[in-house]
Amino acid sequence: MKKRLLVLVMAAAAAFSMTAYAGSGRTLDEIQKDGKIVMATNAEFEPFEYKDDDKIVGIDVDIATAIADELGVDLEISDIAFESTIPALQAGKADFIAAGMSVTEDRKKNVDFTDPYFNASQAILVAKDSDITGRDGLNGKTVGVQTGTTGDSYCTDEDGTSDVKVGEVKRYEKGMDAVSDLIAGRIDAVIIDNFVAGKLAEKNPDKVVKLDEALTEEEYAMALPKGSELTAKFNDILAELTESGKLDEIESKYLGDGTTGGETEAETEAE
Ligand code: ARG
Repeated sequence: MKKRLLVLVMAAAAAFSMTAYAGSGRTLDEIQKDGKIVMATNAEFEPFEYKDDDKIVGIDVDIATAIADELGVDLEISDIAFESTIPALQAGKADFIAAGMSVTEDRKKNVDFTDPYFNASQAILVAKDSDITGRDGLNGKTVGVQTGTTGDSYCTDEDGTSDVKVGEVKRYEKGMDAVSDLIAGRIDAVIIDNFVAGKLAEKNPDKVVKLDEALTEEEYAMALPKGSELTAKFNDILAELTESGKLDEIESKYLGDGTTGGETEAETEAE
């Protein structure tokens, strides 16, 4: 009887340590022994992550590569649907997320965020001949968003706090597909992150315009499993990359002519 109880306790302890492992992710030691760190992203988000031929490139990829270098491991990229990135992290299929992911209170329930590294907002894209000139014009309209993004939450307005009441929200896996529907006249506007909107408009200069008015204020950060010991390490490396000017260098490489994501609150505080 005693023996059986001990076995039971041991089984319970093993189950517990396994959940604890999946919960807070791999340790730095485990990652270094493995020789690689796995980043979850959705490479449909130029200039942050996108495909150049078969290679995934972009601001987040360069920052993540610098972090992996600093940790002395290779970077492996897992390119999945944006809304699958947090579940993948929680399931232990990735060590972190770098996906132009905005910090939100809701996501904080499921992940730990690093210090923010980029200021962003949601922007409005319309067809060149559209009569929508700002946020008020979105009321009652059919709007395309990328599934599971902050643009999706803003338009879907589940908590009723948005200042615009769009008529219908259409969800897409790729921002590019939303833009195709915009050009085809199937939707009235696309709501997507400002720099990504800029790139999409640049690609269709005769057909699509990005409006000046921004809908939200957001900050991008990388996400790690709740309680991960890596978050502090990531923050140290991000601070070093900021201080050395490497972060600005990466940003202006993709944004052009010295444009950067501006000073995030964390960067201002560091001064
Ligand atoms: N910033 C937005 C959000 O966090 C959109 C991010 C989409 N990123 C991507 N790689 N597709 O919801």
